Amino acid sequence: MIIRRPPDIASSEITPEQVYVDRRSFIRLAAAGAAGAAMTPGSLSALGRPSRGQQVRFEDMESELGEPVNSYEEITTYNNFYEFGTGKSDPARNSGPFKPKPWTVTVEGHVAKPGEYHLEDFLAPYKLEDRVYRMRCVEAWSVVVPWRGFPLADLVKRVEPTGSAKFLELTTVVRPDEMVGQRYRVLEWPYLEGLRIDEATNPLALLVTGVYGRDLPNQNGAPLRLIVPWKYGFKGVKSIVKIRFVEEMPRNTWWAMNAREYGFFANVNPEVSHPRWSQAHERRLGELRRRETLMFNGYGEQVAHMYAGMDLHKWF
Ligand code: MTE
Repeated sequence: MIIRRPPDIASSEITPEQVYVDRRSFIRLAAAGAAGAAMTPGSLSALGRPSRGQQVRFEDMESELGEPVNSYEEITTYNNFYEFGTGKSDPARNSGPFKPKPWTVTVEGHVAKPGEYHLEDFLAPYKLEDRVYRMRCVEAWSVVVPWRGFPLADLVKRVEPTGSAKFLELTTVVRPDEMVGQRYRVLEWPYLEGLRIDEATNPLALLVTGVYGRDLPNQNGAPLRLIVPWKYGFKGVKSIVKIRFVEEMPRNTWWAMNAREYGFFANVNPEVSHPRWSQAHERRLGELRRRETLMFNGYGEQVAHMYAGMDLHKWF
């Protein structure tokens, strides 16, 4: 898969504000990943080390479709995180008191190797990569983000699911003292999301720890969140404390709240409208024009096979 290790550049050369990455390699690697090619360390080095002139900053990165990333400001000030309020600017404004350190992650259920880990130990075995993904919110806005994280598939493999593990359930922390929105029952807490095991092991699914090369800010789901770019943004559960391997399809929060409007799969699909928002178009943060929404948010080549034969009008 796409391998893009942050420490290519000595940390002494950079400040948190200006982390440089090799754009050409990134795009070529991203394209190779998009085509499903297996990237090995050998093929990585065959691309050659970037010269200084080829290095660009995170803000100059593009998606594999050539779309520029949104600004750090846009990504971190227009958010959905109901634990901090229902307005788009609430998470940035209200999440200051939240403490993402220390943090514990529990892995349980149908796995040979369950465990409870300090975040640092939980992350230690994995190689972090930077990947630019589009995110399409069900509310018809979208954003292009350079996330930093590692494939959820790597974790799944490591904990050795048993034959009964058909789904993953991922749970957000409950801390009403630090999360002002949790003092109100706008949603049922904790916020829950789920994936089928084949979705969880699709190479695109990421457990994310950072954005723009920096640790996730609280409003974007510090210190650990999910990103599944072919699904609506609400599947990207934030501030994860528990990952449970289960036999039955878990009831994710929005589906439990309103089954007429939200389902389990939530695959981006311009042909299946939400009762309140057409899903045919979207507005990219920072733009005025409407863009057409792409089937599976443009990631069909990598994910459509998982839904072959399924009625996507029924399983929305
Ligand atoms: N996770 C939790 N725990 N609570 C939330 O309210 N909102 C979801 C998702 N993850 C949400 C959540 C929705 S609706 C979207 S669109 C994305 O987070 C937004 O992610 P962003 O704020 O990083 O853009």
